[in-house]
Amino acid sequence: MPIYPPEPFRIKMVEPIRLIDREAREKALRQAGFNVFGLRAEDVFIDLLTDSGTGAMSQHQWAALMQGDESYAGARSYFRLEEAVKSIFGFKYFVPTHQGRAAENILSALLVKDGHYIPSNMHFDTTYANIRARGGLPANLVIDEADEPTNRHPFKGNMDIHKLRSFIQEVGSQNIPFGMITITNNAGGGQPVSLENLRAVASTYKEFGIPFIIDACRYAENAYFIKLREPGYSQKTTLEIARQIFALADGATLSAKKDAIVNIGGFLAMNDESLFQRACNELILREGFPTYGGLAGRDLDAMAAGLWEGLDEDYLAYRLRQTAYLAERLLEAGIPIIEPPGGHAVYLDAGRLLPHISQSAFPGQALAVELYREGAIRAVEIGSVMFAHPSPETGVMAYPSLELVRLAIPRRVYTQSHLDYVAETLVKIAARKQEIRGYRFTYAPKLLRHFTARFEPV
Ligand code: F0G
Repeated sequence: MPIYPPEPFRIKMVEPIRLIDREAREKALRQAGFNVFGLRAEDVFIDLLTDSGTGAMSQHQWAALMQGDESYAGARSYFRLEEAVKSIFGFKYFVPTHQGRAAENILSALLVKDGHYIPSNMHFDTTYANIRARGGLPANLVIDEADEPTNRHPFKGNMDIHKLRSFIQEVGSQNIPFGMITITNNAGGGQPVSLENLRAVASTYKEFGIPFIIDACRYAENAYFIKLREPGYSQKTTLEIARQIFALADGATLSAKKDAIVNIGGFLAMNDESLFQRACNELILREGFPTYGGLAGRDLDAMAAGLWEGLDEDYLAYRLRQTAYLAERLLEAGIPIIEPPGGHAVYLDAGRLLPHISQSAFPGQALAVELYREGAIRAVEIGSVMFAHPSPETGVMAYPSLELVRLAIPRRVYTQSHLDYVAETLVKIAARKQEIRGYRFTYAPKLLRHFTARFEPV
């Protein structure tokens, strides 16, 4: 296989993008309050804000869309989706939702009560916020290697089984309505979890009678990492690996906007019949009837096709090496990143690149702003803007251990020359890094503040 497999597709429809000039970029930044979420997408040249809902659907998916059955109840589209969900994930029941966080909301509404604890390797921010919104306390129990940016552990998303066990004993299994794991671990660098670890997590939860729910957004990338890196799986297909993963769990939440390569969609799946019945009632209240769950029939069809396409191994080989290509170009240029790169994104280590900016002045935010200023590239800060919060006991600010900027790569959208441009832009930024200054808030909401906060340079 080539080191960087070329795109296993041809481009048959194009969406023009344009690079606005420096002055226009400066103006756009000021208008957005130095928050890239506030930019107009047409003013962005390469948009690496997220890999969620930004993928390019295939001709097969577009064709599936035309077959959407828009019946309110019992549509054919639903049964095609059911067939894909059941054969890949194997759960007895599922409800479609309009996206991942809707599945998290339903799960949390049904099971999380004040003072409950929900352990995981690391919760993604919407999962975290949905649990908190019900009075629950999310806990991140990832292995220590996840915090070491240059530690090339093959499965840095693994949960620390020793930490998990002590955690359950400390808070009491009766206070844990379910336990989770996120594959791949987005908040920790898009790092995969091994099957060996998934088995240990499942048996620990089982020992204490705690239902096991997988946040499955990037199920296919995680399965392919297992095939590449875990002894004993190189001859297994990603579908076989996915089935082994989900056979360990009692349920899953999934945002289909990632590995199912659709622009909207998700589901909540489970084996417990009474939980399913309650989920249907909650779904009807919040999303829609259980056979459409907040989506159009055509969306269900595109998702059904995408769930299969996401597992295609030629596509996955290209996908993971495309991400690695960007990472390897940056490492060659001495730009610090989380190593090894994840499946869907390269995480720049802004803390190491800009050591002269203190955490209270948001080095990740400063780097995200520079990416736009220098090259009209949009990326997301995953550092103190997102996570720093005053400790409830002491009021002292608690900062995350890493200050990151995520370059998330939409699926089947950008080519290698787009990524060369990203790497070259970062080299220019690194060359003048001493001039880069930090930021402070001029406005910040309480929850999920990175989306709408505004800043000024310090
Ligand atoms: N879980 C994980 C691991 C995610 O990465 C996301 C979304 C969700 C749940 C929520 O899904 O957006 O469909 O409601 N991640 C996006 C991102 C937003 O940019 O990483 P959603």
